[in-house]
Amino acid sequence: MKLRTKVQMFLSALILLFMLLMHTIVYLLYQNQVSEKEINRVRDDTLNVMEAIVQNNGGEIENQQLLQAFLPNNGLIRIIDADEQVIHDVSKQSSYYDWPFHYTQSEEIRLNKTEDGIPYVQVAMPIIWEDGSIVTLQVNEALYAMEDTLSTLQIVLMATAALMVIPAIIAGTLLAGYVTKPIQRLTKEMKSNPKDGTWDKLDIPSKSHDEINQMQHAYNEMIERIEENIRKQEQFVSDASHELKTPLSVISGYANLLKRRGKEKPGLLEEATQSILSETNRMQQLTEQMLMLARNEDKENLTYERFELRALIKEVIRSLSIAYDRNISFYDETDHHEIISADRAKLQQAIYILIDNACKYSDDRVIVSLIENNYSYDIQVQDFGEGLSESDQKQIFQRFYRVDKSRSRKAGGTGLGLAICTSIVRAHNGKLSVDSRIEEGSTFTISLPK
Ligand SMILES: Nc1ncnc2c1ncn2[C@@H]1O[C@H](COP(=O)(O)OP(=O)(O)OP(=O)(O)O)[C@@H](O)[C@H]1O
Ligand SMILES: [Mg+2]
Repeated sequence: MKLRTKVQMFLSALILLFMLLMHTIVYLLYQNQVSEKEINRVRDDTLNVMEAIVQNNGGEIENQQLLQAFLPNNGLIRIIDADEQVIHDVSKQSSYYDWPFHYTQSEEIRLNKTEDGIPYVQVAMPIIWEDGSIVTLQVNEALYAMEDTLSTLQIVLMATAALMVIPAIIAGTLLAGYVTKPIQRLTKEMKSNPKDGTWDKLDIPSKSHDEINQMQHAYNEMIERIEENIRKQEQFVSDASHELKTPLSVISGYANLLKRRGKEKPGLLEEATQSILSETNRMQQLTEQMLMLARNEDKENLTYERFELRALIKEVIRSLSIAYDRNISFYDETDHHEIISADRAKLQQAIYILIDNACKYSDDRVIVSLIENNYSYDIQVQDFGEGLSESDQKQIFQRFYRVDKSRSRKAGGTGLGLAICTSIVRAHNGKLSVDSRIEEGSTFTISLPK
């Protein structure tokens, strides 16, 4: 069911329900007021009859006649003694004699209904009879007028309720339209995006600050993120193909050379195979790194195990200090041997990438520290090399970004190391940050939550 129909139905039902409630309240209040008035009237009549009986006191007028004189048109008057026997009863309607009675010594007022649903009032009062005994005087009256008025009121109220159905539906429809129209417009605009391959942002009227406006803002922000992601993806593909192009052209160049001159110059064979091998190695490394990047994005790819963090760092330091023949110092500032739970191989790779960079981009010493904070373990890798400018610091974590392309190429870099390191650290819910100054050196920090 459409939202518009739902809102429309809900609002119409709500309006009708509210109206029915109001009508019921009006009806009940009116019924209460009218019946109270009628009861008071019959009570006054009863008091009059009582006074007349007391004044007559078995005198000149026959009690039966006296009661007859006070008998209301649609009523019944009874005198009941202590043995529940009727001493006198007068009425113009024989059916009224069926109305119930009983002896009572206190005032009683009741509003009953006949079998036909006609309401009648019964007022009972004790009086002293001629013989000195206490009897009950009961005055009853059927309330035809009240019944008529109430049923007329009922019909009027029901008719207005029925008539109100149409305006309620119209009001519901109008309100539903008012609420859902901006949503429909937004949906239409969203559906027509992207137009000709470009993503359009929505024009947002600046005045309103309602929920629809917030939704439009959220949509525009989402478009910005999509565009940014698409741009990054395109950049990645173009960078990756560019990186692969260089070794491929070297390989095809040497292959062509071999084909043309291989037979004449046997010395060329050695040089060509050497170059082809080194370029294929480079390509292999590059594709492996790209695959790793794609996999690291996923948290599910982590294999958690428990191990000692300082032992892992020491292992990486040992192998890299041999490979680069450099002095790498290690400062463990934690007071006990920390066991952590993480993907050991991936974390080892992340630390490897940072120390590898420190060795590649500096000639002085390299310092690795392990620091324990309240909520995290920090692994810091500090070098005293050329350092990085503010703008480079922002970009080095992007894939394929290299500060000095020719120099890094010489050092064998592809610009994927820090991107891989970032994705590994992120998958562990950690943070990778850099603090660096030109000509002074850089400090890279991996922060792992405890
Ligand atoms: N410790 C450092 N000091 C100075 N520059 C650095 C340092 N670490 C990284 N960089 C700069 O950041 C760039 C990106 O580093 P990253 O590790 O991502 O790629 P790379 O080292 O060039 O290649 P590889 O993929 O082989 O690691 C480097 O090319 C280098 O210019
Ligand atoms: Mg690197």
